[in-house]
Amino acid sequence: TSGAAVSSKEYEPFAHQNENLSVDWDNLGFNLMPADYMYMMKCTEGESFTQGHLDRYGSIELSPAACVLNYGQGLFEGTKAFRGENGRLFLFRPEQNAVRMQIGADRMCMPAPSTEQFVDAVKEIALANHRWIPPTRKGSLYIRPLLIGSGPILGVAPAPEYTFLIYASPVGNYFKEGMAPLSLYVEDEYHRASPGGAGCVKAITNYSPVLKAQARAKSIGFSDVLYLDSSSKTIIEEASSSNFFIVKDNVISTPAPNGTFLEGITRKSIIEIARDLGYQVDERSVRVDELDHADEVFCTGTAAGVAAVGSITFRGKRFDYKVDGRLVSQRLYSTLVGIQRGVVQDKWKWLV
Ligand code: COI
Repeated sequence: TSGAAVSSKEYEPFAHQNENLSVDWDNLGFNLMPADYMYMMKCTEGESFTQGHLDRYGSIELSPAACVLNYGQGLFEGTKAFRGENGRLFLFRPEQNAVRMQIGADRMCMPAPSTEQFVDAVKEIALANHRWIPPTRKGSLYIRPLLIGSGPILGVAPAPEYTFLIYASPVGNYFKEGMAPLSLYVEDEYHRASPGGAGCVKAITNYSPVLKAQARAKSIGFSDVLYLDSSSKTIIEEASSSNFFIVKDNVISTPAPNGTFLEGITRKSIIEIARDLGYQVDERSVRVDELDHADEVFCTGTAAGVAAVGSITFRGKRFDYKVDGRLVSQRLYSTLVGIQRGVVQDKWKWLV
């Protein structure tokens, strides 16, 4: 990229305003509205990342033979910056994203930034782009770190050069339904991941193979797809971009990590919050036939938040769930967003 490197030192960490932006903060969806600055850091194979810098957001140059373009050697992450009720800016558990990226990088034969490098870079991005962090309760700044094999290579092998970059965009609700309950379609033809694959890391290659299933489900009116395990097709794994929970008789269950789905940071946080509020939470194998008698269903994700599910359709049968009254998902979500906005005590020290 061109343009002079910018230091975040020039920015006010506690800025209250979204000055000079004509963004409709009341109607943010999950659409790209690039914030001013991106972060870039490069290293060659066999070395470690050393020093990155901020740059104006813009296109990057890649060789046509870049490993990421030809063989998909790449990972992404997602984290958010929030504006608290008092104007303070918060990051939510960014070190968890750093660690997940390191685990994924090992799986994909890439070097990864250290936790400190990763978190510092996320901080720099949030501060440099602070005017893009929506007013409190209107949304958040979605921060997207990428780690790609950017160097050119012809045969199947790790890239000779790697790029860690971060860009950001203000976002509101992930689903076009907003906060309305989702309708999910259970997919049993296309699968997201299989044992021994890379389903449990945030590989860029996990996402486009299921666009077709998603497109089909959306074209017949569903909000999203729920995937089953690829061998028995009886065990629930996850939705396209979020983890899955059911509630039955006040007991919360969610698929136990088994290497084929992505363990979300929101998933983990919701489990801790639920246990702290006194709920029993079982991480176990959740069978598709349990959909028939669940009381409540919800999905969690950084982008998705905690999204109530109103119905799930499996092989032509539709199951409906509780969507109003005192929802367990609502109680968990208000606690989570309360912590993220600095109004509920952050007893686990999740905020940065
Ligand atoms: C996130 O929740 O941050 C994700 O990575 C989901 C993404 C595919 C939109």
